[in-house]
Amino acid sequence: MTGVIHGYRVRVDAPWWREAVTYQIYPRSFADADGDGTGDLAGITSRVDYLADLGVDAIWLSPFYPSPQHDYGYDVSDPRGVDPLFGTVSDAEELLETAHEAGLKVIIDLIPNHTSSAHPWFVEALRASPGSPERERYIFRDGRGRDGEEPPTNWQSVFGQPAWTRVDDGQWYLHMFDREEPDLNWRHPEVAEEFRSVLRFWLDRGVDGFRVDVAHGLVKALRDQEVPEGTAPNSDPAVMYDIGVEDDPMWNHPEVHDVYRDWHEVVSAYPGDRMLVAEAWTKGPSDLRGYLRTDEFEQAFNFRWLQSHWSAQEFNEAILSTLKALSPSRAWPTWVLSNHDAVRHRTRYGDGAQALARARAATLTMLALPGAAYLYQGEELGLPHVQLPPEHQRDPWAEGGNGRDGCRVPLPWSGDAPPFGFGPGDEQPWLPQPTQWADLTVAAQTGQEGSTLEFYRAALAARRRYARGDSEMWFLDAPADVISFRRGRLVVVLNCGSTPTPLPDGELVMCSGEKLGSDLPPDTAAWLLADG
Ligand code: NOJ
Repeated sequence: MTGVIHGYRVRVDAPWWREAVTYQIYPRSFADADGDGTGDLAGITSRVDYLADLGVDAIWLSPFYPSPQHDYGYDVSDPRGVDPLFGTVSDAEELLETAHEAGLKVIIDLIPNHTSSAHPWFVEALRASPGSPERERYIFRDGRGRDGEEPPTNWQSVFGQPAWTRVDDGQWYLHMFDREEPDLNWRHPEVAEEFRSVLRFWLDRGVDGFRVDVAHGLVKALRDQEVPEGTAPNSDPAVMYDIGVEDDPMWNHPEVHDVYRDWHEVVSAYPGDRMLVAEAWTKGPSDLRGYLRTDEFEQAFNFRWLQSHWSAQEFNEAILSTLKALSPSRAWPTWVLSNHDAVRHRTRYGDGAQALARARAATLTMLALPGAAYLYQGEELGLPHVQLPPEHQRDPWAEGGNGRDGCRVPLPWSGDAPPFGFGPGDEQPWLPQPTQWADLTVAAQTGQEGSTLEFYRAALAARRRYARGDSEMWFLDAPADVISFRRGRLVVVLNCGSTPTPLPDGELVMCSGEKLGSDLPPDTAAWLLADG
């Protein structure tokens, strides 16, 4: 396909986030300073140089707040604190300062859809009676049917159980995730006021932005989900849209946008281009645009590529639909291939060396696209998703199998055997690392020509030089299994087929593998600089 499909102009004074590469840190699995087998904030601080050297622009920290850890920190009992497992508020301040000194921005996770069941508000709500003001901050309802034995709606939670749990006095409370994560009532002014104050608490400490968890879910229409005959209620928006449920009562309610307009005012009152990035699951990129209005979010995660299989056609579609959806507005796209909720892309694309080659090729292609990119810790080492034995599986969303634990195994830093320098001593990490990771440690890959770590360092440096800023983008003619596009002088080719493909003329500036003469082998991507 030819023709200009996209033109983004970057102002010289463009905000930092517009084309930033942000590295997601899952604190419990990044680096352990105190040697208890769980990563912590001081561990992250001790590795800031590694991140700066890798060449990312920002870090995003998954939750570190006090939490019973039923959902590994997404069940927050105090959004202004730090769980002792991870350190203290002064450790957070020190991390912010160290990251800023190294030139890195810091985004933190904000979890407004629910609290932990251990949050003082929920503890009070359980003690109080039906109809009390304490219950109003959550979504308590009477049941249906004889003696209220049926839940108030037919909703399923994302983690696969009914979305309602009954309490001793017979009422039910809503939880779209784990039963230990009761949903807040966003029509309650105290809830809105509390989150404004939480935003300010962390903005005052210097955070540069917030990743907003379940941004599409804060406000609900409490009625049954109507599904076509022969199908069952489901909380996965993609499944619902596939079976034709357009008007989902659980997600993407128009009133969620009032919340973000309010937050936009709070955040933009601070200097330094502070920002909000939405985790919003929508029907597709065009519906994301609703979250990216000038007075709401600066960014929203675009999961389209993460959800695609290894296929030039699917990748093309992911790129095209995103750019077409967003380019008419001021919004800039984001790209992501892995995170703490998904099977690592290295493993999604197959097994062994071929899968790693594909993962590197997909990353290199993603890094050439306009907008911002998000990386997930460990992908720069080419870590695979780990199949953990049942006795080590910890995720509440296990779906009868491995759940999300496989992408959360602690990073290998150095040495020949677990714990691979994860902590200062011999304490084994909270999830066991495969012994085969000896070749994948940061130490083993540093300075090693062709290693995935050196490939990421080179690709991030090349992105700064060739793939940012003022450019128009257009697709070039290519065989069916190949994607080829141009941005300014940069030509990108990704070969998803099974035979080599000829490379166009130009100076080769990055390759995810080895080129074969003037051909690009299968499972490989290249960047070239076109003349003129
Ligand atoms: C999305 C987060 O990414 C996930 O890890 C968490 O379990 C749910 N939201 C609930 O907070």
